[in-house]
Amino acid sequence: MDHFEYRDGVLYGEEVPLSQVAEEIGTPCYVYSRATLARHFRAYTEALGSHPHLICYAVKANSNLAVLNLLARMGAGFDIVSLGELERVLAAGGDPAKVVFSGVAKQASEMARALEVGIKCFNVESRPELERLSAVAERLGKIAPVSLRVNPDVDAGTHPYISTGLKDNKFGIPVEEALSVYELAAGLPGIEIVGIDCHIGSQLTELAPFLDALDRLLVLLERLRERGITVEHLDLGGGLGVPYRGERPPQPFDYAASLLERLAQWKHGESLTLLFEPGRSIAANAGVLLTRVEFLKPGETKNFAIVDAGMNDLIRPSLYQAWQAIIPVDTRRPRESATYDVVGPVCETGDFLGKERELAIAPGDLLAVRSAGAYGFVMASNYNSRPRPAEVMVDGDTYHVVRQRETLESLWAGEALLPEPTTASG
Ligand code: LLP
Repeated sequence: MDHFEYRDGVLYGEEVPLSQVAEEIGTPCYVYSRATLARHFRAYTEALGSHPHLICYAVKANSNLAVLNLLARMGAGFDIVSLGELERVLAAGGDPAKVVFSGVAKQASEMARALEVGIKCFNVESRPELERLSAVAERLGKIAPVSLRVNPDVDAGTHPYISTGLKDNKFGIPVEEALSVYELAAGLPGIEIVGIDCHIGSQLTELAPFLDALDRLLVLLERLRERGITVEHLDLGGGLGVPYRGERPPQPFDYAASLLERLAQWKHGESLTLLFEPGRSIAANAGVLLTRVEFLKPGETKNFAIVDAGMNDLIRPSLYQAWQAIIPVDTRRPRESATYDVVGPVCETGDFLGKERELAIAPGDLLAVRSAGAYGFVMASNYNSRPRPAEVMVDGDTYHVVRQRETLESLWAGEALLPEPTTASG
């Protein structure tokens, strides 16, 4: 459930008409709902109840400081994949002791900073990464808390670009090698083993792959115990899907219940702290992208609705052929309905937000692209020298600009002209 609903024909975010945000802030503009973010986060913590747990929100899904700050205030931990994300979490008041650091290519300087601020855990993805981390920790006189990201080789059944738990993916340590890498870890001076983790993919709509992955990790944990290696936590990553178009993914409650049930069947399961790294399921349906129709361009085979947001603002439809609902903000005016491809201003045929949408619209109307709170702004670019959109957070009957629209000057800030020629030939 989210807090974007029609009232008397006008789309609201919580108590705020979205037409008001568009008038005052302009378009394109991302709008997030505070109550929805909070609700989605709470769904996880409540689902896990009294079982020891930590919800580490995946910062990559939406890294706006206001979003991070809201979640930090609610006690969230964070899953980061770069120094930039770490510094964002710190700037937003996040607790470094609740940060887990994922990613296949951690640099020594990133490791050093994470050790300095005292993160909870490094999710290590390969043997050489483990060796680098141990060396960095030793140099700094620290011990790095480590979980190995195991690739359990389960098919998450999602889009190939966002499936990460198969053998063919670059992620994690193959499950059959994990034992020997744990043994290596146990012997390295700068490393302390604290956990085990996996992340099998994103936008999962079934529980079975998660349970398969859990089973494989439990088998591994049992074999590790035989060798005297134990862990404090088990981190199942993110991946729970959201309804973009009528999907009915499991709710956090069902997800947690079946995992806890499975965990209880393992004799050491009770004491294992559970970590999740949800991104999409917290942020996606807590946000919309507001855009205005510039022109309607009827054609022989297709009608185009040309809007002021493009693939540089929201790339999911172009990149993954992702379907996101596109709905009018104000349905009170009489309009003729037609089928449109909703396309942006970017000079690429692949620049579309939606195809073959039945819409009753006229030039100047506002549209909202739904489910845009995750992997929306964070994947935006300046392609075609387009300033990135503003971001707004509604909160009850008020709203806050949580990121200004980029200015034109900021597009070339940091660039330089060539020096003046010093010779006659230039
Ligand atoms: N943990 C790790 C290690 C991850 O790689 C990811 C996402 C997450 C957690 C969060 O997963 P979520 O709960 O959001 O499914 N840009 C794509 C999604 C890429 C996801 C990458 N990893 C999209 O727009 O669909």
